Formats: sequence, C-alpha cells, structure tokens
Amino acid sequence: MVHLGVNIDHVATLRQARYAGERTAAVPEPSVLDAARAAMQGGADSITLHVREDRRHMQEEDALAVRHEIPLPLNLEMGATDAMLDVASRVRPNFVCLVPERRQELTTEGGLDVAARRSPLRELVAALAEQSARVSMFIDPDPEQVHASADIGAPMVELHTGRFANTADREQDQELQRLIAAASLAHSLGLEVHVGHGIRLSHLPLIARIPHLTELNIGHTLIARAIFVGLAQAVREMKDALGEM
Ligand code: PXP
Repeated sequence: MVHLGVNIDHVATLRQARYAGERTAAVPEPSVLDAARAAMQGGADSITLHVREDRRHMQEEDALAVRHEIPLPLNLEMGATDAMLDVASRVRPNFVCLVPERRQELTTEGGLDVAARRSPLRELVAALAEQSARVSMFIDPDPEQVHASADIGAPMVELHTGRFANTADREQDQELQRLIAAASLAHSLGLEVHVGHGIRLSHLPLIARIPHLTELNIGHTLIARAIFVGLAQAVREMKDALGEM
C-alpha cells in the first residue's frame, strides 16, 4: 500500500501563534509530540516536519524530540543550505526532502530548481547520504527536473501536486497528465516516486492514476480535519481511503 507521511507543521503553527519566542519545551500546547503520537495511532507511516529557515512553525528541538520519542521514520523537510545540513546532522532524520524556501511565501510554493543548481545539490545529497538520510527532491512535474534529480544522485523525488490540487476541470486534468508523465519518467530512471502538497481526501481517486507512487505527504487537510474529529481519526480516514486506491 502507498505510504502516508503525515506533516504536522501546523500543530507548531498554532503553538507559535501564541508562544513564539518561548522555548518549546516550556510551552504546553498544542504538543508536537502528542500530535506525532496521534498520527501514529491513526496509522501514519512516517512523520514529516519542515524546519524552515525563519522557524515560523517547527523548531529544531521539535525535530529532535520527535526523532527521539516517536518510533516512526522522520522525514525532515528543509531548504538546501549548509545551515540546514548542520541541523540535519544533529537531528539525524531517516529521510530528507529538499525544498525551495522563500521567506515571504505562505507555504512551499514551487518545486526546487534542481537543473539550475546541480553541483551544490549533488554535494548536499551526498553529504546527507553520509549521514544515512535518504533524500527526495521536491520538484515540479517537469521532465527536466526529473532528469536533473536522477543526474545528481538523489534516490527519490516528491512531485509537487500543488497546482493539481488548486485547479479544476481541464487545467487539473492537464496537471494530472504532467504528474503521470513525470512519475513514469522518474521510475524509469530508478527514482522512488512520492507526491505531496495540497492533497485532500477527495483528490485520491485522481491521484491513484499516478503510476509507481510509494508515498503521499499530507499535512494541512489532516490538521484541519483533526480540529473536528481528532488527528488519529483524521489520519485513519486518509489511510482507509489510501487502502482503496
Ligand atoms: N510536501 C512538501 C514538500 C511540503 O512543503 C508540504 C507543505 O509543507 C507538503 C508536502 C504538505 O502539503 P499540505 O500541507 O498542503 O498537505
């Protein structure tokens, strides 16, 4: 079955809305660790956290706590910088997803331009592999970016589904075709294929048409649903739907 990575960044978003600037350990709620435990109860296959350069939600100590307390693989999303490589060397995540970061953006808005930055990204992927982290490149479903990801030695790609998720009708179908083509190409080049961004339960029947998928990374909709039914239940619903994909 396709794996579900549960992104719990927005639990920290809520905490920071009230307690930014305080040490997370001293702050009671909502607890990132409890969120990770609830996601695990609901059947999450891995926990994803994005420690952003501006530390707007997850802090390094959140990542360390999840790494040490939660017996699920940790996927650390991070910008492709030396400073974040240092963070990864302390956190020791199982997986790293390299993402582009712009301070002004609300969330990760576009894929990483791997083709334009082959040499530094090749070094970064190798350095992370030395730390035993398997790396995925978060890229738009663009053949040039898929080829570049394989070329620099990344073992995995996460195809950006944001545009697919935020459009409808013909435009959405075109984007789905791009995702299908990119996934086929990635697989043919030996890359493991993940998808993520903006995915909601109602998208799964279309997402199921993307071949060779091994993992979906989902955050916002699960945390939104969790407000009403709890996080374990929200994750369970998604897992059940994935089981039918
Ligand atoms: N994958 C990546 C690389 C992301 O940056 C995000 C958003 O943090 C997600 C997946 C999850 O997106 P969403 O919160 O829209 O489900």
